[in-house]
Amino acid sequence: MAVLVTGGAGYIGSHAVKRLLEEGETVVAVDNLYRGHAEAIEALGSVKPGTLHFSETDIADRDTLVRLMTEHGVDTVMHFAALAYVGESVTEPLDYYRNNTAGALSLIEACDKASVTKLVFSSTCATYGEPPKVPMDENTPQSPINPYGWSKLHVEHILRDYAHACRVNQKPFSYAALRYFNVAGSDPETLIGEDHEPETHLIPVILEAALGVREKIMIFGTDYDTPDGTCIRDYIHVCDLIDAHVAVMHALKPGDERFYTLGIGNGYSVREIIESVKRVTGKDFKIEEADRRPGDPAQLFADPGKINSELGWSASFTDIDEIVRTAYRWFEKHPNGYAE
Ligand code: UFG
Repeated sequence: MAVLVTGGAGYIGSHAVKRLLEEGETVVAVDNLYRGHAEAIEALGSVKPGTLHFSETDIADRDTLVRLMTEHGVDTVMHFAALAYVGESVTEPLDYYRNNTAGALSLIEACDKASVTKLVFSSTCATYGEPPKVPMDENTPQSPINPYGWSKLHVEHILRDYAHACRVNQKPFSYAALRYFNVAGSDPETLIGEDHEPETHLIPVILEAALGVREKIMIFGTDYDTPDGTCIRDYIHVCDLIDAHVAVMHALKPGDERFYTLGIGNGYSVREIIESVKRVTGKDFKIEEADRRPGDPAQLFADPGKINSELGWSASFTDIDEIVRTAYRWFEKHPNGYAE
């Protein structure tokens, strides 16, 4: 049997591919290479030669997905392929609904045709929107405040209805939706790493400033109702995130439907992240205080109690310096990303 990973050339998907190959799984990675990196796939080819199959395929191409699933005996899908910039989703909502929602629909149809039995879906804490309280857990009302969050919440609803129909028709399908917080860090072995174009995520942006690739770091808002006035987020290491996917994949039984809120359960402010980067890199850089970025809630962090009690998962990277250090190792080697 094999696992099909969508978005396998992207940041999170490539880390999933590496981990699955290390576990001895046969992996079929698909990616349209719009924002993914062919170099990541090339690097991953060395993990367990002969067990990774890559296809440059868009998830909208249902027939090719069915062919790949059937050819390789795929029984499980990990679905990461998506557009993932909140700001871009506001200016280009149709792209987000087409790629993230319609794309997932095409993938689920392919799963149906190829009798795939398990699907692990990369959802987001953006499906919760501005929470009434923190920490956030699975009971936090889902009320997105941007098209990105909606595009993923629609997929959760499609999966819920499809799983219900499968139970009625006695088809052995199960799925999990993992609602992540801020994914950070890179493969400690630096075989693969984080490379976004454009880069907007806090930790890479600060590292770029520390490495001189970027002139300065801007703090978006210093007047929030938080201890140091800057926003607080929950930064989960990408390898811990993938551990959770693998644990969920093994736990899914026919008919199961699981939802987990996935973060380390602790928040760090923008200023705390800047201080961490300074400690880890030993470098100083220019910092500019700027206005708030529209749509940024003051505090978002998870209560990962449910996944901990049900699957025994907890983050192994809980010290922010350790998380930043793995990101730094990658950026030191690849200050301009894969393309150099
Ligand atoms: N920030 C800065 N300066 C920067 C970049 C970010 O001050 O140059 C701040 C932001 O205002 C925010 C925090 O750092 O307070 C984190 O910002 P990111 O852009 O790194 O991450 P977000 O919390 O905005 O977004 C993340 C994921 C999204 C996901 C969202 C869920 O990147 O994919 O969490 O809320 F949808």
